Amino acid sequence: MSIQQLDQQYIAPTYGRFPVALVKGQGAQLFDENGRRYIDMGSGIAVNTFGACDPVWTEAVTRQLHTLGHTSNLYYTQPQTRLAEMLCQRTGMEKVFFSNSGAEANECALKVARKWGEEHGGRHVIVTLKNSFHGRTIATLAATGQDVFHKHFGPFPEGFRYVTPGNQEELAEALAQPDVCAVFMEPIQGEGGVEPLEASFLKLAEKLCQEHQLLLMLDEVQTGNGRTGKLFAYMHDGLQPDVVTTAKGLAGGLPLGATLLGARVASVLGKGDHGSTFGGNPICAAGACSVLERLNEDLFREVCEKSQAIVDALKDCPNVKRVSGRGFMLGISTVHPAGDIAQRCLADGLLVLTAKDKVRLLPPLNISWELLQEGIDILKKNV
Ligand SMILES: Cc1ncc(COP(=O)(O)O)c(C=O)c1O
Repeated sequence: MSIQQLDQQYIAPTYGRFPVALVKGQGAQLFDENGRRYIDMGSGIAVNTFGACDPVWTEAVTRQLHTLGHTSNLYYTQPQTRLAEMLCQRTGMEKVFFSNSGAEANECALKVARKWGEEHGGRHVIVTLKNSFHGRTIATLAATGQDVFHKHFGPFPEGFRYVTPGNQEELAEALAQPDVCAVFMEPIQGEGGVEPLEASFLKLAEKLCQEHQLLLMLDEVQTGNGRTGKLFAYMHDGLQPDVVTTAKGLAGGLPLGATLLGARVASVLGKGDHGSTFGGNPICAAGACSVLERLNEDLFREVCEKSQAIVDALKDCPNVKRVSGRGFMLGISTVHPAGDIAQRCLADGLLVLTAKDKVRLLPPLNISWELLQEGIDILKKNV
């Protein structure tokens, strides 16, 4: 049986997969079972920060694999502590909880908000945004402000309220309620169609959190780790969040989630409050250390230049209506359906993603100018 037939027989059919089985990769190039090459502008949904099988990352991960693999969190491990130190030093946050995915990083943030709220006036409501996406667990689905994800899976935990992104009055009214303890948002709504929040909206949220003594929590699962041309997207607007969650690109291809805790919440979680068997596993942490060491200003500048090159190249395309997003997280509104464009690009050797009705680009941060140009040409032909 072929890979696709085996998948159909044995794997729960939750994914709408592209009709291709990928077997190997090198940087921003992936190869299918027939040896066909594709330029990758999806990075495994913003995960492969430096592309496939990046030599520096592979070396760091294999060195750790040959040294010490899994230990559980019953013991201290060097890669995890080193990674936590690096994350705190680069963000000004004070503590980190490690997990394995974006949903889990967010689950931890929700628990921190609940416990902090309990200790600060018995407040438990967390305000999130309509059109958001925070994960697939029951609690993170409840935080997700999209009805389509709620179908079939209720009842959900209570204590979530949703505000329209960009609507300052709605935000002000929601955050003034006495039972609210936190607001939780993505700086750029990724799955919601690569829709950035305006700086003024984010700044207002920060101000209201100060006024009403609430936690400002940001979901940077997709926007974090250099994706938007800064280490975290909130850094573009000079915000000082209390909680930041991230995952996806953090370990450059290995499963790792992190919940970063600022000064106000650094001591909220105590012994036994939360845990994860695999979270911050030495191998994933070693991969993440190697990624973080390379996320520097030179790389961010290049990401911004290359992003601008994509935007400029699409400007004269009559079938492109608008490009949204920042850095290497771009959403393209098109005249023709995004799904059809993605299929046509695939047929021409380019992997792009979709988000809502947009074509979504999330290239590896170090894609070469040559491959980028080749990818842009295929995209322009098919858009
Ligand atoms: C903003 C955001 N939060 C959370 C998640 C969930 O992450 P994971 O699939 O790793 O659980 C995603 C995944 O797309 C995301 O984009």
